[in-house]
Amino acid sequence: MLANAHVSELSRDQDDLFAHVVIDGLSRPQKTLPCRYFYDARGSDLFERITELPEYYPTRTEAGLLARHARQMTDSLSDGGVLVEFGSGSSRKTELLLDELPERAAYIAIDVSPDALVHAHARLARRYPNLDIRPIVGDFSELSHLPSAFTGQPKLGFFPGSTIGNLTPAEASRLLQRFKSLLSGDGRLIIGIDLKKDKPTLERAYNDSAGVTADFNLNLLTRINREIEPVFDIDRFAHVARYNDREGRIEMHLVSRCDQSFAVRGHRFTMRTGETIHTENSYKYSIAQFQALARCSGWRPVRVWTDANSLFSVHELA
Ligand code: AVJ
Repeated sequence: MLANAHVSELSRDQDDLFAHVVIDGLSRPQKTLPCRYFYDARGSDLFERITELPEYYPTRTEAGLLARHARQMTDSLSDGGVLVEFGSGSSRKTELLLDELPERAAYIAIDVSPDALVHAHARLARRYPNLDIRPIVGDFSELSHLPSAFTGQPKLGFFPGSTIGNLTPAEASRLLQRFKSLLSGDGRLIIGIDLKKDKPTLERAYNDSAGVTADFNLNLLTRINREIEPVFDIDRFAHVARYNDREGRIEMHLVSRCDQSFAVRGHRFTMRTGETIHTENSYKYSIAQFQALARCSGWRPVRVWTDANSLFSVHELA
C-alpha cells in the first residue's frame, strides 16, 4: 500500500517533469525535444529494429570490432578488476568483452531501466557463474562514485554505441571528465564513436527505406500524446534527417506538414509549414578529432580500432 502510493507519486513527478521538458523545448525559437525520451517501450523496440537495418551500419560494425579485438580491449583487466558499463541496457555487446575476462572479475552495469538490468542480470548470471555482477539503477551522468567494495581495483569503463555522439562536444567533454574521476586516475575507457564519412552513407543510415527511423522519430509525439495529453495529429508531421557539415552531426527533425497549432497543459504553440522540431543530434568524429576531445578531457588516447571501410571507431583511453 505504502510502496504503491510511493510509486504512483514517483511516476506523477516523472510525468510533470516530462510535461515541463516538452513545454520548455517547444517554447524555443528552434523547437526542440530531448532525444532521451525516444526510449519508451515502443521506442526501444524500434531502436532494436534500427540496429538491424541494412543502412544502419554502426551497431554491426562496432560489434565486429568488439568481437575481433575483445582480448586486447580487456587486457588491462587480465589479472582481475572491474568492468563498468555506462548505460548497459541489454548488455548484449558486453558479452563479447566478458568472454575475455578472468575468473576473479566484476561487472558493474549502470542503467536507468530496472527492467533491463533484471533481464540482463539473469542472463549473465547463468552464462558467467563466477562473475560478480552489480546492477546499479540510475543515470550514469549523475553518478558520483562507484561502490566502495571496488576501491583500489583496476577499472575499465565501457561506453559503446556512439551514445556520446548525442552530446555536443562541450557536453561530451564534461562526461569524459566525469568518467575519468569515476574510474579513478588509473582507470581505462573503451568507447565507441561513429566516424565522419561521405554524406550519402550517413544520411541513408538515418533515412532507411523501410521507414523504421521515421517511426522512431515520430514515436516521440505518440509518447507525448499518451503520457501527457493528446497534443499532436501525428499525420501532420514528417521525419527528416540530414547531415550538418558545419557542425559535423546528423540532425533529426520533425517537420510540420502544414500551418498548425496545438496546446500542452494550456500552453499554445504554432508551427508554420516546413518549421521543425529538432529531436536529435548524432555527432561524427574523425579519429584525430575524437582523440583531441579525449586529451582536453583529461584522457590519453592509447589504441584505436576501426573496420576496413573506416565506418566506426572504438578507442581505448587511459
Ligand atoms: C543510439 C545515439 C547511437 O545516433 O545513431 C539511431 C540513435 N537515432 N537512429 C545514433 C539513432 C536514429 C543512435 N545512438
